[in-house]
Amino acid sequence: MPTLQERHAAALATLTDADQAHALRFYDDLDEAQRDQLLTQIEGIDWPEVARLIQSHVLNNPPLHLPSDIQPAPCYPQSPTSDLADHYNKAKSLGEQLLRDGVVAAFTVAGGQGTRLGWDAPKGTFPATPVTGRPLFGVFADYISKAQQKYNCTIPWFVMTSPANHQPTVDYFKENDYFGLDPNHVTHFPQAMMPAIGLTGDQQGKVLLASKDSLALSPNGHGGSLKALHTSGAIADMKSRGISQISYTQVDNPTVHVVDPLFIGLHAIDNAQMSSKMLPKTGPKEKLGNFCFADGKMTVIEYSDLPDELAFQTTPDGDLKFRAGSIAIHMINVGFVEQLSTSPTGFALPFHRAEKKVPCIDLNTATPIDPDEPNAVKLETFVFDALPLCDNSILYETDRVEEFAPIKNADNPPGEPVAVDSAASSKLLQTERAARWLEKNKVTVARDAEGNVNATIEISTRTAISPDDLSAVDLPKSIKVGESIAI
Ligand code: UD1
Repeated sequence: MPTLQERHAAALATLTDADQAHALRFYDDLDEAQRDQLLTQIEGIDWPEVARLIQSHVLNNPPLHLPSDIQPAPCYPQSPTSDLADHYNKAKSLGEQLLRDGVVAAFTVAGGQGTRLGWDAPKGTFPATPVTGRPLFGVFADYISKAQQKYNCTIPWFVMTSPANHQPTVDYFKENDYFGLDPNHVTHFPQAMMPAIGLTGDQQGKVLLASKDSLALSPNGHGGSLKALHTSGAIADMKSRGISQISYTQVDNPTVHVVDPLFIGLHAIDNAQMSSKMLPKTGPKEKLGNFCFADGKMTVIEYSDLPDELAFQTTPDGDLKFRAGSIAIHMINVGFVEQLSTSPTGFALPFHRAEKKVPCIDLNTATPIDPDEPNAVKLETFVFDALPLCDNSILYETDRVEEFAPIKNADNPPGEPVAVDSAASSKLLQTERAARWLEKNKVTVARDAEGNVNATIEISTRTAISPDDLSAVDLPKSIKVGESIAI
């Protein structure tokens, strides 16, 4: 075990090489525990990489390199055309078989900071459902329980946290008895962090300090999940459990299909390494990444990067030509992550730069700074940037009501319109989906003249994860105006 003094000397040498020695400027003011914390943070960072990124992404704004030939990505439709019916049947059976064989793991990325939601705890603890307020983690755990029962299998669940929310997340699972799941099949592991880099004045190009004993750190983006799966030992653990497929979803979406037999099967039957679900965009500029086919590879081009002349292009039928929006649902082969771990470029995904307001201290006086304007660059990688590294990748269209009701933004004050991607908009979508599932099971649901559901309905993922699961449930004949019901 190196002593603090030895660790300090090593850290100082590394930081000096990266022109960031100021990170230890207040070291002499710290007690032992604080010194240990700061050194641990410094030791967790790839400083040569940070130094490179400061040059390329902070002191310069990296030029946008778009592929020369960008085409819409080919996509499996939501419902099969007649020539695909047989393929879909085979794919669904294969997906169900893979679940029964126990080779599929669920993977939730929950390392984000959830700043926009303004929830002062891990996002997965947010009460998401419209009637009982079940937290997001509870919704997913119930989904896994139901799927395990349906397919008579075990679905190990891996949850990626970040060092900032890891312990509260683990504690929350413990306090809630893992929502009835076997703790031996639930694994939490943290992703890596990146320091925020100053953008202005004498902090320009310098890693910022949150306090004398801490760098201003934030998670390195959901692209960091691929490397974290490897370095945390999760991939080795999956292999020891016989897992070959990972069902990747985000923590913010309570209607997501945590495991989906048809999607799993379509991905597996085509020998894809990483696959995605898409939603048709509501308009050319909807803020979803665009699935494209470029230089023979599946690629996501951020909504802000897709040139207008492509974004607004339409087909002869008047549909958007680039209609496939990314909703961050993927199937990933365990073998693909392993392959990245041994490739010469490793897990190197491109970094994206975002200018943010980052509270910090003055690097000379340690006076706290609470900026009104963006003062820093945060650097993140995105998981979908691994798609062009695949030899095979499929895209499957899903339905917005069926599986996209994300909770990202804070609710508007009462009386104001429902905020986009808020708890309120999500609850309306959850109710609408529940109504559709009930109507498929011959329950009459009160709707107003515009067709909106005139009640609040929650179907627990412990009860049903698809409409046909409701056939075994004792359902009411009708849902009345103003009723609030949990099934
Ligand atoms: C993301 C996608 C967007 C997609 C939308 C669907 C990007 C850049 N954009 O947007 O194309 O339409 O989701 O909902 O990805 N997370 C981590 N670690 C991190 C950062 C994020 O685990 O370092 C997790 C979050 O906990 C969350 C998810 O990734 O579950 C989404 O993160 P967020 O940064 O909020 O992405 P969006 O801007 O919502």
